[in-house]
Amino acid sequence: MASQKRVDEVTGAETTGHVWDGDLTELNKSLPRWWLYTFYACIAWAFAYWLVYPAWPTLTGYTKGFLGYSQRGEVAKDVAAAKSAQNSYRAAIAAMPIADIKKNPELFEFARDGGAAIFGDNCAPCHGRGAQGAVGYPNLNDDDWLWAGDLESIQTTISYGARSGDPKTHDTAMPRFGLDKILEPPQISDIANYARSLSHINVDTAAASRGAPLFADNCAACHGDDGKGNTEVGAPNLTDGIWLYGSSQEMVMRSIETGRGGMMPAWTGRLDPVSIKLVALYVHSLGGGQPEPEKTAPAEAPK
Ligand code: HEC
Ligand code: HEC
Repeated sequence: MASQKRVDEVTGAETTGHVWDGDLTELNKSLPRWWLYTFYACIAWAFAYWLVYPAWPTLTGYTKGFLGYSQRGEVAKDVAAAKSAQNSYRAAIAAMPIADIKKNPELFEFARDGGAAIFGDNCAPCHGRGAQGAVGYPNLNDDDWLWAGDLESIQTTISYGARSGDPKTHDTAMPRFGLDKILEPPQISDIANYARSLSHINVDTAAASRGAPLFADNCAACHGDDGKGNTEVGAPNLTDGIWLYGSSQEMVMRSIETGRGGMMPAWTGRLDPVSIKLVALYVHSLGGGQPEPEKTAPAEAPK
């Protein structure tokens, strides 16, 4: 690179004197105005930005800027907005019959999400994370219900529990046929064979046919003549192949001997009424939820 100032012949402009590869000369021209003004504008923008927004660290913190903007402040605002939206959802849910909440897609979505969180905190220890249940703890995903699976029934069961001691709890229990010596062990064995045959389990057919009349006398009052159960008294359907306590001869005999008497706690007082609605909607939405029963019309129209 040679260095030698001169005037470029083609453009008539002065050169810087820098020449590359023998004949590439660099013209000495001033910066284009648009470029220069843009550059100044950027500098001015930067100064303005420093003044308006938080910018420079100081010994004790940072320069706050005239606008007082902070990202933490924005988050706090968002959280406050979400809280107030939540409060208005909760207020709407508090005021509505549970079946109507289901008909409002926005409220219903809020309810189901909230209900899932409440379920995880309070119910999963017994019913399982996915509400799949365990021996003695019913699966809440299927449409097999001890105490009925429409929304209001689920809400009632959650509110007052089963055999929980709450004054409004479901409190019917199966008699302890063995422990209280209502039936003899061979009779219990025969009825167990019969009860299992209702779910198409291969059983000792002679024993089952001895069990059938005993079933009619001792069990049908709650489980029904056909063994299909009765949600009024929490008696499980014995014909659907779903067993709360197990289907083996031994387990079914134990159910008959002890009456089981599973206990579901009451949640009134532990959860507020809105939370109970949320978790009831969640449980109902798990797949086994049943429609509301037809309301019988009042016998006489009000005058
Ligand atoms: C301490 C264990 C335990 C906890 C915690 C618990 N449950 Fe239960 N739940 C049970 C048992 C046991 C039953 C069965 C009661 C019976 O045998 O009649 C039951 C029954 C139910 C039923 C009725 C099922 C049917 O087939 O009719 C519903 C609905 C239910 N629970 C929902 C909940 C919800 C929602 C929560 C949380 C708010 C919850 N449970 C917390 C033990 C529990
Ligand atoms: C007073 C009503 C009542 C009578 C009578 C009754 N049961 Fe039950 N039965 C129930 C209830 C309620 C349960 C549910 C217990 C629980 O949830 O812990 C049950 C549960 C059972 C179970 C457990 C089912 C499962 O899914 O694991 C079997 C089996 C059973 N009963 C058989 C019988 C037989 C057999 C008789 C007659 C000898 C009988 N029951 C009489 C109310 C009754």
